[in-house]
Amino acid sequence: MKTTHKLLLIAAMALLASCKENTQEKVTVVPYPNEVIISHGTFNAKQADLHYEGISDTNTIDAIRSFAEALTLASGKPHSVSEGPASTGIIFRKEPGIAEEAYELRINRRKAEVTASSFRGFNYAIQTMKQMLPAAIYGNTSAPGDNWEMQCAVIKDAPRFAYRGLHLDVSRHFFGIDEVKKYLDIMEMHKLNTFHWHLTDDQGWRIEIKKYPRLTEIGAVRNKTLVGHKSVSKEYDHTPYGEGCWFSQEQIKEIIRYADSKGITVIPEIDLPGHMLAALAAYPELGCTGGPYEVWGRWGISKDVLCAGKESTMQFLEDVLSEICGLFPSEYIHIGGDECPKVRWEACPVCQAKITELGLNDDGRHSAEHYLQSYVMERMEKFLASKGKRTIGWDEILEGEVAPDATVMSWRGTEGGIQAVRMGHDAIMTPNSYFYLDYYQSEDKENEPLAIGGFLPIEKCYSYEPFTEDMTEEEKGHILGVQANLWTEYIATPEHLHYMLLPRLAALSEVQWCNKDNKDWERFAADAPRFCAIYDAMGYNYATHILIGKK
Ligand code: ACM
Ligand code: ZN
Repeated sequence: MKTTHKLLLIAAMALLASCKENTQEKVTVVPYPNEVIISHGTFNAKQADLHYEGISDTNTIDAIRSFAEALTLASGKPHSVSEGPASTGIIFRKEPGIAEEAYELRINRRKAEVTASSFRGFNYAIQTMKQMLPAAIYGNTSAPGDNWEMQCAVIKDAPRFAYRGLHLDVSRHFFGIDEVKKYLDIMEMHKLNTFHWHLTDDQGWRIEIKKYPRLTEIGAVRNKTLVGHKSVSKEYDHTPYGEGCWFSQEQIKEIIRYADSKGITVIPEIDLPGHMLAALAAYPELGCTGGPYEVWGRWGISKDVLCAGKESTMQFLEDVLSEICGLFPSEYIHIGGDECPKVRWEACPVCQAKITELGLNDDGRHSAEHYLQSYVMERMEKFLASKGKRTIGWDEILEGEVAPDATVMSWRGTEGGIQAVRMGHDAIMTPNSYFYLDYYQSEDKENEPLAIGGFLPIEKCYSYEPFTEDMTEEEKGHILGVQANLWTEYIATPEHLHYMLLPRLAALSEVQWCNKDNKDWERFAADAPRFCAIYDAMGYNYATHILIGKK
């Protein structure tokens, strides 16, 4: 070999070695932490015991204990947990000066030290550490031969947005208590903090309301379900769906407790005054025509909605919301407000009498019936406020007179949210153009499971930026955060649900968590094999488009 070639080869090998060093000395965590300073060396987590100091809340202590149990099982070495100061091991120390969801993690060769002021901060530090360890930490089998070294680093982390949500529709297809828990588990791994639970819709009422038992006796079951896509199909399966598919109030409490142990708030949605066919089938007197009505076996928007003119309808809604407020500790209750056609109200003498009584008129911007819907929403907002709760509604609540304290959930693109913050309302951004996870993930639709439509590859999810160029600081402050929605008309199994969710959830989590300058599609895509290995260990199905050419 000529000398010049030899030199080139040596240079190439040196470059490769340094690249190897660089790839080792990094942190592969999603959502990526906001400040990471890598230092040389590693910390041996296999030998480390766990200690905590100044911490008394049971959620944090339980999370530390679960982490120790997972380390014990996966590394094959016992890890004890003790209270009190320590100079080596994995140490959790309360530091009241740190912001509510923030944490700091200092890892050197002797110890991994976590400081935070609240359960969520501590739990996010645990999630970060777990991701820095072999994927076996997420599974049920021991992997003592894996590399249990953690990269030395200083990580100072805090979320960009306070509201980091994920929605699940359990009406169109039912996902039971174990499946909802599994949904919460993967939310926790990605540091989400809000579960928006869509519990009622035309195709099934899925929450026990003690005062109205027929809601679940009648309203949970449809006699048939459309086969194929709604745009082309008229075929039904003629098989009843939904018997027993609802959550008892005890189960609801169990889910709320489980979510709380993961730092997740549960916001229930009772979608009103549209999307109410299941309730109408159970109590036809709540409609304008009196029925009869059937729990719907089709997908789409039903013309039959609650009669907004009847005082008995308002009583029904207040009764239902009373039970909801008693069950859910969350500050917010979602009351829907989307896709409520006005044709029945236009023809209903009771609704028209109410319009006259309230002095509502078409004003060229909106019809009198739109203002009738605003009246319903505002009445419910006031009622919820009397119970100490705040209201969220879909962006249709902007049509008419938006209830004064309502938070707008922007779903028909971003416009509703932008308009809401300009009006001084809070907004949560869930634009269908970026975060409707029921949309196709690939253009090769033939080779994808049937979906509602659209095209939403993970790159598109990742690219979303909630602030616009011309938003003022005050307006930006009204954007509480970002959420993805998962509607289940075409999704009937957990495997399919997870396929639609993952790994787009990882992209959502970076939009929610990472400061704008820390988002980096190249880094994120390069790390995809790692987070998919975690999904494997946790037993989730996922879409593999991002992995093509990477494994
Ligand atoms: C919605 O997707 N109808 C809120
Ligand atoms: Zn009516």
